[in-house]
Amino acid sequence: MSYDELADLYALQYENYADDLDFYARLAERHGGPVLELGAGQGRVAAHLARRGVEVWALEPSAAMRARGEAATRGLAMRWIAGDMRDFELGRRFPLVIAPFNALMHLYTLADQNAALAGVARHLEAGGVFAFDLYNPLLIRADGALRLEGRYGAAEVYYRQEHRPEAQRLLTHYVLDETGPDGALRRRHHTLDQRYFTRYEVERWLAAAGLSGRLTGGFRGEPYEARRPIMVWTARRVS
Ligand SMILES: C[S@@+](CC[C@H](N)C(=O)[O-])C[C@H]1O[C@@H](n2cnc3c(N)ncnc32)[C@H](O)[C@@H]1O
Repeated sequence: MSYDELADLYALQYENYADDLDFYARLAERHGGPVLELGAGQGRVAAHLARRGVEVWALEPSAAMRARGEAATRGLAMRWIAGDMRDFELGRRFPLVIAPFNALMHLYTLADQNAALAGVARHLEAGGVFAFDLYNPLLIRADGALRLEGRYGAAEVYYRQEHRPEAQRLLTHYVLDETGPDGALRRRHHTLDQRYFTRYEVERWLAAAGLSGRLTGGFRGEPYEARRPIMVWTARRVS
């Protein structure tokens, strides 16, 4: 799916999301740069690392997301690349490759997943680390109800989740309402399509590409448990 139509909504929802920033910054400080971010979006994480003096290469296919990212990171040590994580060749290796905030949930098929991971393995230095976080599918509660997510300025954002377990897909249908000065309602719809991963699926996927993964249930090294909202993975090349 393309994030072009989601870019405005994404900015409203996540510009202040910061739970993961220290985790990725600590890794970047430990492993050094440049750091390659796959699915860099609007540069939320990349800008945080670059402000700490780490050079970041940001790969992002959506022109609308990239445009916001480029504007937000002007003057920082960053390189934006229009590209797809399923098919990229940057001509160098990196000590750290990251894919924060569910970016890998846009790899919908096994072929997509294998192609992306082969790209990661090709771009990692010996001893390099691949770090990413994913939504924990054990917490999916898609009862079909429409819920208010929040009010962002003049906009009210509602969402409804649809679970397609046979395809490991989670669809989030957003409704974005804005009421004009004349009282007229402007309503927009957007759908976020995510393919979720299970724990041992990720472990096998990484192992097949010569990476050994370590799983935690949070950004501070919490143990992974069913009730944790996210899976946080750090993987190293072992072959
Ligand atoms: C949930 S956003 C995460 C953005 C950013 N990493 C962050 O933490 O704010 C997922 C991003 O992955 C990008 N994406 C989707 N499919 C992709 C692909 N095949 N290759 C690279 N990026 C992709 C989307 O355009 C979107 O910007």
